[in-house]
Amino acid sequence: MEELYKRVTEIFSKRHHIAHDIKHITRTAALARYIAGQEGYDEDEAEVAGILHDMGRTVQDEDKGHGPAGVPLARQLLDEYTNYDEIAKTRILSAVECHSYLNAIGELTHIVQDADMLDGLGAIGMMRAYTSKANSVDYNSDDIVPSVGKQNATINDQIVYQMEWFGLMHTKTAKKIATSRHDFMVGFFKEFNNEALGLDYKRKTPQL
Ligand SMILES: [Fe+2]
Ligand SMILES: [Fe+2]
Repeated sequence: MEELYKRVTEIFSKRHHIAHDIKHITRTAALARYIAGQEGYDEDEAEVAGILHDMGRTVQDEDKGHGPAGVPLARQLLDEYTNYDEIAKTRILSAVECHSYLNAIGELTHIVQDADMLDGLGAIGMMRAYTSKANSVDYNSDDIVPSVGKQNATINDQIVYQMEWFGLMHTKTAKKIATSRHDFMVGFFKEFNNEALGLDYKRKTPQL
């Protein structure tokens, strides 16, 4: 596992992937391991799947299809750095391939999805939204906290979009972790709205 992690770190260090860097990989792999332990799944297998889940990001930039795009490289790394049999490799590669599909099936895939989505919640999730959407408009004054999330709009739209992952968790363990991370974001937006509208000091000047 250590050698695999070293090699993956090397691959990710060749190019800077905002919000999908080796730190995202490390956090996701650790979350996947923890969730697996709590849910009675093989911890090592979940961690390996977490380490490999975004290899597609190193071969292409687009969001679209980065799961399947990472399978050949993930297969190569599994062959070179692990002793898993074909059945386990198939499970891991299926998790890599399908981790960004909403209706994906399979216990390992669900664990990786939960870990990956948890990294889009809480303070870390917000930091990732701000860094990856740094060139976007921060928020619209007439819709400060949108009720429905949207990608490629304002940063607040992006954060709400990520908050919706809270409802997509598969495992009990992830739901529990997600609850406090989601609560934090709800609190952040409450404060954001108050400050933007001057409600925290009862602004007297026109708002627009
Ligand atoms: Fe991904
Ligand atoms: Fe990811």
